[in-house]
Amino acid sequence: MGASDHTTRLPIVVLVSGSGSLLAALIEASAEPAYGLEIVGVGADRPDIEGLRRAERAGIPTFVCRVQDYPTRAEWDDAMAQHLADVIPSVGTAEIPGVGHRWVISAGFMKVLGPSVLAAFTVLNTHPALLPAFPGAHAVREALAYGACVTGATVHLVDAGVDTGPIVAQRAVPIRTFDTEDSLHERIKTVERDLLVRTAHDIITDGFTQSGRKVTLA
Ligand code: GRF
Repeated sequence: MGASDHTTRLPIVVLVSGSGSLLAALIEASAEPAYGLEIVGVGADRPDIEGLRRAERAGIPTFVCRVQDYPTRAEWDDAMAQHLADVIPSVGTAEIPGVGHRWVISAGFMKVLGPSVLAAFTVLNTHPALLPAFPGAHAVREALAYGACVTGATVHLVDAGVDTGPIVAQRAVPIRTFDTEDSLHERIKTVERDLLVRTAHDIITDGFTQSGRKVTLA
């Protein structure tokens, strides 16, 4: 991890859609002040999920923003941006020296974020495959079906596409002969949790530069 001076903990919002084991890893890491990040909110696109319950048990404020509650996808995106802005006000982060981004971590969030969110926030996403191979919602199943010998986890910046944003970090996971989708996904998630915790710390606390698709950590 980077070696910046973490006198200020930087606010992040985490988005989830399911069990939230990646969120749990971030909650555990951020309990240590030296980690430098504070989860100030957890959002979801559906209610009654373990990810939200994990946040509530940790005393973190939550919100739910369901696509079906809005007439159009664009209005859902506007509502998401408003929810996020309520949790990370721009004035608050602008007052923190050296912080040029308002950060959101998409950690198992299964919706594509739209232009309103992406204009106001820098979003880090984690994906259970070695992008650009196997983008989309069924990455583990598709890697197995394809007969790949190696897959893995990718942490990347989010752009307007589906899992197409610039790659920040990747780690490989071998596929075993008798793997099922569940066994492989569990092994990937073990790697993914550590990769996300480390990469989020490094890019958010120490910063990065970007040239085209190439992201370089400071
Ligand atoms: C992760 O593999 C993530 O990349 C994928 O869904 C999984 C989420 O796991 N999109 P959890 O809900 O954090 O346990």
